[in-house]
Amino acid sequence: MPASIEKQIEKLREQLRYHSYKYYVLDDPDIPDAEYDRLYNQLVALEEAHPELITADSPTQRIGSKPLTAFEQIQHEIPMLSLDNVFSEDELQAFYHRLQERLNSHDEIEFTAEPKLDGLAISLRYEKGLLVYAATRGDGFTGENVTQNVRTMHSVPLRLLGENPPAVLEVRGEVFMPKAGFEKHNKQARENGEKEFANPRNAAAGSLRQLDPAITASRPLSFYCYGLGIVEGRALAKTHYQILQQLKDFGLPVCDEIKVLSGINACLSYYENLLNRRDALSYDIDGIVYKVNAIELQERLGFVSRAPRWAIAHKFPAQEEISRILEVDFQVGRTGAVTPVARLEPVFVGGVTVSNATLHNMDEIRRKDIRVGDQVIVRRAGDVIPEVVRVVPGSRKQQLPEIQMLTHCPVCKSLIEQLEGEAVARCTGGLYCRAQRAEAIKHFASRKAMDIDGLGDKLVEQLVEQKLINTAADLYQLTADTLASLERMGNKSAANLLAALEKSKHPSLSRFIYALGIREVGESTALNLANEFKTFPAVQHATFDQLIEVEDIGPVVAQHIVNFFQQRHNLEVINQLFAAGIEVQGVSQAISDNQPASELSGKTVVITGTLPSMSRDEAKDKLLAVGAKVTGSVSAKTDYVLAGDKAGLKLTKAEKLGVQIIDEDTMLSMLSNK
Ligand code: IVH
Repeated sequence: MPASIEKQIEKLREQLRYHSYKYYVLDDPDIPDAEYDRLYNQLVALEEAHPELITADSPTQRIGSKPLTAFEQIQHEIPMLSLDNVFSEDELQAFYHRLQERLNSHDEIEFTAEPKLDGLAISLRYEKGLLVYAATRGDGFTGENVTQNVRTMHSVPLRLLGENPPAVLEVRGEVFMPKAGFEKHNKQARENGEKEFANPRNAAAGSLRQLDPAITASRPLSFYCYGLGIVEGRALAKTHYQILQQLKDFGLPVCDEIKVLSGINACLSYYENLLNRRDALSYDIDGIVYKVNAIELQERLGFVSRAPRWAIAHKFPAQEEISRILEVDFQVGRTGAVTPVARLEPVFVGGVTVSNATLHNMDEIRRKDIRVGDQVIVRRAGDVIPEVVRVVPGSRKQQLPEIQMLTHCPVCKSLIEQLEGEAVARCTGGLYCRAQRAEAIKHFASRKAMDIDGLGDKLVEQLVEQKLINTAADLYQLTADTLASLERMGNKSAANLLAALEKSKHPSLSRFIYALGIREVGESTALNLANEFKTFPAVQHATFDQLIEVEDIGPVVAQHIVNFFQQRHNLEVINQLFAAGIEVQGVSQAISDNQPASELSGKTVVITGTLPSMSRDEAKDKLLAVGAKVTGSVSAKTDYVLAGDKAGLKLTKAEKLGVQIIDEDTMLSMLSNK
């Protein structure tokens, strides 16, 4: 066999190790993934052709082994210790003073501060730079041999980098599942009807303790090292921080949040800083670990029972606690979303006492099978609204009824709609509902809607809070006196606002439709509706079938529109707007109720021939004004054909299809027939 093949293989392996190191350890890849894959595939091809050259540390040999029947036990030569915890600044101060006393010095002590990763501890043993085993912590003295699983983790080097690794190097660190990978895994599990993991720590532990390494390989596990076990053959650096840098140079990943700090205040600000950023980190942490940096001082301080004296974990407030659901209420948000909220036995979680937690929506309630009376896990992470994560397994001792969604808004009594395929239920009383008032009015006044100059969000909030307006229609009843009495509003601004309100009274049809704030009816949908139906009453009375014919309107939006115009309260507000003098593009017809305005409302009509007293366009406008739809060709969907003189083919087709034919007089009398 040509020696050059061997060389080629070794060169590819070196390249792949280097690029893995750049990617996983330095987080600074030199080459795109596709290039890595190309090199990897070259190596695979060469190894396939020369299987005798395959070595255990080849990057291709991460997943090779067969499933185990049980894990072997591994004795830790040096026990894997745990850490003492502190939960407050006072306790941390006490720890610091104990250190100073023991060291008999008042000098500031230097620490490394490290995130306390929420995963599981692991020990990796390298001999002459090669990974020989990986073991879990177990009880601290004996762990389980999980080598074949750890080998599948790309952040763990199978061979250390550099020319001169120690004869034996035992590295300790944390295996964890990054949050994104955890979410993705759970989403997949949910879709496949499999069991979800409760949190990233369980996910990491569950994934590492798989007898089949192929399963571990499919899980997004990561690793950071934070210390040493046994080291033979070579002394490492004299401070913990420098040792971590050496480990990094060997190709081992080290968390880049680790810092060297002096004194207690620096520790406290590091703690605060990371606590604030906790949710933004890509992995879960449950506190900070401070470690005396100088190895010499660590040795002087030694250990107590199962924890080092030279390190302490400063824990963050727990983000999950157990409580009980006392009741479920429904809250209506500013956009009309109706959210089920659990009233809880008060519980201290995430640093505050929590007595309400969101249940998100009915799908989530059903998925988690949550019922009133259940013991549940409550989570409060950072500034996020507390949520009920799940029922404590096995805690339900008696049958409890299922939670039901309301049919009508608890605030305004309008219908609650929940469209198929949508998780969120919504109140349809958008224009009127007290919960949605301020948002509805802000939207109504906004530039692309009624464009009421000088009526900003703050002013709307103020007017609503002081109950000076309840709906958009009330804006037009405001007087100079009322306005001038508001904070930061002089006579001049009040007069300007009144003028702007006056000016806004003649909106185009599309602006007016948009201003109503119908769900999912944005500017362009409003424009399409205006172009299609021409008048406001025609839009108001349009049927579902007519609406879905309009460009860009599907069944969901069509249903939102129909529901909106079916709410009595919304119609009242629209009426009040017209009564206040709003004239939409010259068409200003008061809307008395939500009944069709005429016998022809909602009907599809085709006009053909010459009419006796009006043009076809005039007839069309009259029909559109009552919400009829006028189309160009006769089909089975046509309700009426309005036929004048010299009606041709369309009339013949209507007769053939049995479509009712009417003349101008009949149309006029039908138009006034309610
Ligand atoms: S040092 C002798 N550093 O916390 C010191 N532990 O409660 C041993 N952990 O079993 C641990 N992040 O699983 C250390 N930066 C960190 C850590 C860390 C997470 C875990 C580790 C350990 C447990 C102790």
